[in-house]
Amino acid sequence: MIGISQFRFPTDIRFGVGACSVLTEFARKYKVNRPLLVTDSGLPETEAFSLAADEMDRVWPGEYMKFTGVHPNPTDQDVEDAWESYAQGDCDGIVGLGGGSALDAAKALRLKVAFPEMALPEIPLAELPPTLIPMCAIPTTAGTGSEVGRSTVITIRQVGRKMVLGAPPLMAEMAILDPELTVGLPPNLTAWTGMDAMTHAVEAFVCPVFHPMCDAIALEAIRLVRLYLPRAYSDGADIEARGMMLIAAAMGAVSFQKDLGAAHSLSHLLSSEFGIQHGLANAIALPAVVLFNGEHDSSQYERIAGALGCSEPSDDPALWVADFLNEFNRSIDITQRLRDLKIPRENLPELAAKAMEDGCHLSNPRQCTESDMLRLYKEIW
Ligand SMILES: [Fe+2]
Repeated sequence: MIGISQFRFPTDIRFGVGACSVLTEFARKYKVNRPLLVTDSGLPETEAFSLAADEMDRVWPGEYMKFTGVHPNPTDQDVEDAWESYAQGDCDGIVGLGGGSALDAAKALRLKVAFPEMALPEIPLAELPPTLIPMCAIPTTAGTGSEVGRSTVITIRQVGRKMVLGAPPLMAEMAILDPELTVGLPPNLTAWTGMDAMTHAVEAFVCPVFHPMCDAIALEAIRLVRLYLPRAYSDGADIEARGMMLIAAAMGAVSFQKDLGAAHSLSHLLSSEFGIQHGLANAIALPAVVLFNGEHDSSQYERIAGALGCSEPSDDPALWVADFLNEFNRSIDITQRLRDLKIPRENLPELAAKAMEDGCHLSNPRQCTESDMLRLYKEIW
């Protein structure tokens, strides 16, 4: 019996060098006359910011506002502060510019604009209007794919925990993927964010949700990361590699419409408790989760092994994939161990308990208990 599924790929994506010029079209199509540019505090120093700001100046001369106060792992306070700027500036649209944090804060701001009286966690996601205030998303990293995603991850200060707010209207109306904006990303962040894209695609593919379209997209994202991440890592100015990594990141995020898995639960806690960069935490967690899932069903990794370049059928595809990922991490200088990141071993039980509260593992192909989480943390420690 086939149940009813929903497939949505609505984001208008513009890709290519100089793609920021289509902000003109965003302004016209969505009647945006006074946008708020939402970004993080580090970005105004960068070449990416200058390139985007030049286009903003051209399209909205003297008519746009800036909010540059988004923190890494953005909080609800960041969103409240952005809302102040938005309201004071009498804005009518949003341009999100930056990595996942800036884009997620920009998306959450759209919720706040729709429900200005409510605190973020109280906003009824099921009652959102079909369209929110128009948003254009411009990523400056290639990893989270937040520009095409329908969710935003915000840390709620009162409970000290990351909250995933997801609903289809949260998808940006337009995403601009301009490889020139990612050229200045340093090698370590290139590697880490790239492995976030890889983790999205691998976890989405094995996630037990019926979505053959996303499965195909996930496999291509995996192939692209394998081919282009090492190039973007070793030569940041390789514009073809930068461009294909932006495509891979967007595809990875489209594929996780299906959902994610246990690697993201393990990594969310490493970020919120120890400030480990999200992609780095995923890169370390993913091979262990592949082996763990493979103990129950290794064959689900067969096509992933193929996308990673495995030409011979393998008796244990999960083992092949995990070995490949460990070697791939090494090739882009990603550490394999939590101990190298100064995470105390005695904290692992507490981390495991908290990881159980993270929703991502609920869609892992193999059910995880708290002791499984602890075992996985110990394996990567
Ligand atoms: Fe992620």
